[in-house]
Amino acid sequence: MSNKLTIPDLLEAKHSGRKIASISCYDYTTARLVVDAGMDMILVGDSAAQLMLGHSSTLPATMDFMITITSAVRRAAPNTCLVADMPFLSYQLSISEALKNAGRFVVEAGADIVKIEVTRTYLDVIKAVSDAGIAVMAHIGIRPQSIGKLGKFKAEGTTSQLAVDLIELADDLVEAGAALLLLEGVAREVAKIVTERVEVPVISCGSGPDCDGQVLVAPDVLGLLGKEGPKFAKSFADLSGESVKALSEYAEQVRTGVFPEDGHCFHVKSGEFEKLQKALKSKGI
Ligand code: KIV
Repeated sequence: MSNKLTIPDLLEAKHSGRKIASISCYDYTTARLVVDAGMDMILVGDSAAQLMLGHSSTLPATMDFMITITSAVRRAAPNTCLVADMPFLSYQLSISEALKNAGRFVVEAGADIVKIEVTRTYLDVIKAVSDAGIAVMAHIGIRPQSIGKLGKFKAEGTTSQLAVDLIELADDLVEAGAALLLLEGVAREVAKIVTERVEVPVISCGSGPDCDGQVLVAPDVLGLLGKEGPKFAKSFADLSGESVKALSEYAEQVRTGVFPEDGHCFHVKSGEFEKLQKALKSKGI
């Protein structure tokens, strides 16, 4: 039986004060580790454009790319609640495009929830996707897909006016049908108010500990990047250091002939080597 968390389970977690542990990851191998760690929810974020492909923003993530990596994560995590990130231009053009693309994540990649970065302009998109029966996570606060317009990111909800706007937007998104909210880079005090006000679970990405759950990207959690992540991130291991050590050791052993050893080799079957020698001799080889 699947123990995959559903929207009612996530709601129950909120109401009983059980925090939801979530991570953004992008590939089969990492997702298997995430499953073994017992994570509640996996997000396949469009930050993959930066952390997998090396782009400077999330904007180059395409629908086809996101479908490919979301399916890979789903294969590794058949029983984990899976959120797929709707990439830039997958929902901005029209409601029918948004519905088609949200549906692709469910049908082609096995996602349980789609995440959409929104402003007030996209209330009708949230409503349409939710009315189609697809659970939506509305992502507000810092919205990396708006980098072109904003130039750089800064914390959100840091003045009383901005905080009121964000709190009202959160209310309206829930009213429109959002099943979860994701707050990125929102002032802690404001994130707490939103979390206490709304009925739905609120996941924090850099918005403090008072939300119903947390999400960080796997490369930050694992310390894979070899540099400090954003202010709100924390590394729980130094896999960058460990990985460089292992890779250097491998290269060294190849160069010095220490690797591979006989135990890493295949052999011709017993008795076949003599026959091989004879066969080669008869052919003059
Ligand atoms: O793209 C992503 O991984 C995200 C999380 C950082 C929230 O949106």
